Amino acid sequence: MAVTLKDISRMTGVSVGLVSKVLNDKPCRISSEKRASIIKCAEDHNYKRNILASSLVTRKTYTIGLLIPDITNIFFSSLAKTIDTFFKNHDYTILISNSDDTMSNDIDIINNFSSRQVDGLLVVLSNESCQKENEEELLKVLNRISVPFVLLDRVVDNTDFSSVSSDNEAGAYMATQYLLNHNHQSIACIGVSSSLNGRARLKGFQRAVEEAKAIDVTYYEGDFHFKSGYKIGKDLDVSKITGVFSMNDMMSFGLAKALNERGLKIGKDLSLVSYDNLDLIQALGIELSSVDQDVNHLGRLSSELLLDMMKENCDRKTIVLQPKLIKRDSVKKF
Ligand code: RIB
Repeated sequence: MAVTLKDISRMTGVSVGLVSKVLNDKPCRISSEKRASIIKCAEDHNYKRNILASSLVTRKTYTIGLLIPDITNIFFSSLAKTIDTFFKNHDYTILISNSDDTMSNDIDIINNFSSRQVDGLLVVLSNESCQKENEEELLKVLNRISVPFVLLDRVVDNTDFSSVSSDNEAGAYMATQYLLNHNHQSIACIGVSSSLNGRARLKGFQRAVEEAKAIDVTYYEGDFHFKSGYKIGKDLDVSKITGVFSMNDMMSFGLAKALNERGLKIGKDLSLVSYDNLDLIQALGIELSSVDQDVNHLGRLSSELLLDMMKENCDRKTIVLQPKLIKRDSVKKF
């Protein structure tokens, strides 16, 4: 049977109130001997704080809800790991829920987190929720959230919700410029128009193309998943297109696999610049140039901001990080 505060009070002869303050690290007047005997008694009897009982008093559950769109994408699982580590170090537990990039799941998960009385939320919206036509419904859902929350990675334009994201337009601009600076005159973009980040990256791609001399541009629609890159790679004509900007590494991995099956090689038969700079690139020893969004920094900053908001140390805040291009051997000079 789990030991309670009352049991420790009885065993140490100290009031329940004082025992609770000592075990919850709250300020109180007590001798160092009594404090030590309470802590030792709790350790000897493997005392665990009853979160549910204390939440009835403190109105806090020490839980955080984290909503992500695709847990199979290492970008999001790395983000989740950083956030989990941060909040574990602050005595919080995170509840992670995966929306499969659908708006209906976004809404269900946010409502579920609210009914579980989480103390705060970190939200990476689905691509579907970021669609212009869904904006009104999305704003209703976000405005109903009664605890502090931070939008992460995918933000909602023209709102003052707290958010931490990366400058997608700048990242795509530098990736495309890198291709063009290697004299590629016929390039393709594998984009994701259903995503706010995808639309911002397309603006960066187009800005770099407009600054260059007349070149040929082909656009392919992907969905951030491996299969969409693979499908594009099956048919892409390398006799016409010499360089590709792909809006994330998962699609780039799919593209590379399809080309390999055709006897073609990235960096030799087709130049490729990607996005996310996943650790997988180095783990697999792939020579892939990719824009790094510093996912760990994104995760840490958003966690710090949420914790500050929960402690009422700060109001809403918008943070935009600058990405950087990690150059490897996937782009050859023409
Ligand atoms: O790989 C998934 C993509 O969607 C990343 O580039 C990230 O920005 C997310 O929005």
